[in-house]
Amino acid sequence: MAITLTRLDPTGADRDALVEFMTRNEFPFHVRERWSAADVETAISDGAYRDEDNDSFWIDHSEFGRIGFLRLEDLSDEDPLFDLRLDGPFRGRGLGAQALDAATDHVFRTMPSVGRFEGQTREDNTAMRKTFVRCGWLKEAHYREGWPVDGGAPLASVAYGILRRDWESGQTTTFVWDDLVL
Ligand SMILES: CC(C)(COP(=O)(O)OP(=O)(O)OC[C@H]1O[C@@H](n2cnc3c(N)ncnc32)[C@H](O)[C@@H]1OP(=O)(O)O)[C@@H](O)C(=O)NCCC(=O)NCCS
Repeated sequence: MAITLTRLDPTGADRDALVEFMTRNEFPFHVRERWSAADVETAISDGAYRDEDNDSFWIDHSEFGRIGFLRLEDLSDEDPLFDLRLDGPFRGRGLGAQALDAATDHVFRTMPSVGRFEGQTREDNTAMRKTFVRCGWLKEAHYREGWPVDGGAPLASVAYGILRRDWESGQTTTFVWDDLVL
């Protein structure tokens, strides 16, 4: 695989690079679109990048170098979540799918008790939603008005998941949405 996840040290060697990454990029589909250095410093101090629930990685590509950032969340649960942010110049080139595959491989290979891996994104984040589907993840929920938008009406939060057995087999299993007969 062309992608390597490099665990980062948010309070030590990687602190400045993390602040720089978060402040030089825009995240139009996140709850917070722009970060100040003070915001990132506070998040670092609060353990948002590494504590019992969170762990963070640089996404390194064999050809392009450092292309983004990945955080695993809810690690003390059996169903971790993630936050994936490619660096601006590397968006729109299909690299998100490689990064998501690498994240999924990492979770299932290094966390034997994890049976499912989850992700959520805003309904209008088409690039992320297509990335989920391209990587064999299944849409599992559509939380209407579940995503607050600054100065605007809330949008839906769309949840996707992948099961360990689907990752092992390469086959996405599905379920019946309208399974309740009235
Ligand atoms: C979201 C993200 C990971 C997607 O990765 P990416 O490599 O940039 O994705 P791409 O732009 O190659 O798009 C993936 C697919 O969506 C399609 N797509 C992208 N934007 C689209 C749009 N506005 N309308 C329709 N299709 C779109 C692409 O054509 C591509 O389709 P394909 O799989 O059929 O080739 C990346 O853009 C990113 O890090 N964005 C900022 C942070 C973010 O939003 N993270 C998600 C948090 S969970």
